[in-house]
Amino acid sequence: MEFFIDSADISEIQKAHAMGLVDGVTTNPTLIKKANRDHEQTIREISGLIPGPISVETLSETADGMVAEADIYLKWGKNIVIKVIMTPEGMKAVRILSERGVRTNVTLVFTPAQALIAAKAGATYVSPFVGRLDDIGQAGMGIIEQIRQIFDNYSFKTKILVASVRNPIHILDAALIGADVATVPPATLMQLFKHPLTDSGVQAFLQDAKAWQTA
Ligand code: E4P
Repeated sequence: MEFFIDSADISEIQKAHAMGLVDGVTTNPTLIKKANRDHEQTIREISGLIPGPISVETLSETADGMVAEADIYLKWGKNIVIKVIMTPEGMKAVRILSERGVRTNVTLVFTPAQALIAAKAGATYVSPFVGRLDDIGQAGMGIIEQIRQIFDNYSFKTKILVASVRNPIHILDAALIGADVATVPPATLMQLFKHPLTDSGVQAFLQDAKAWQTA
């Protein structure tokens, strides 16, 4: 399973990249706001740093507007993926862009039926939001299982990009189900390293090493 970093913060992306854990990056308007920097400059820097796919979200509500935005974003880097909202206009834009060979990521997906529509429109990635479903008391990972089954039933090439990841269990479950990608917030990525037995084991090894190093 590939790891994308769900952030527009260059220093966080660099830190994860140094550990060899970044296959791509996803951004959205909220993450750009949080980074508090110029949108174009930020995306250009991320695109220069990470060779994998960098998702940039369109804001227009019409297909023509989304395609026009895509034409601008595609100039910001060779690895830009155009993020499009799950709406009828969004699917029109996905069809136009995919016919032009532009990679797309359909976002704000909350049902397997929406994922099916995105795949039929020709999306490269579909982003089901597991955390936001959990937040309203629905089982987020349940739709990942169903989307996996639907895509496998019909050999859709669209990749399942698990989004709105909130904890390491989401990542583990995504990998067990066979999702193609999980987009991971930097803090959650660091949580993956954690186990109390690793921490206590390190302390014990260091203590024991001191004994023979000073002998
Ligand atoms: C990524 O593509 C999504 O926009 C992101 O994972 C949403 O995460 P959130 O639900 O924590 O805002």
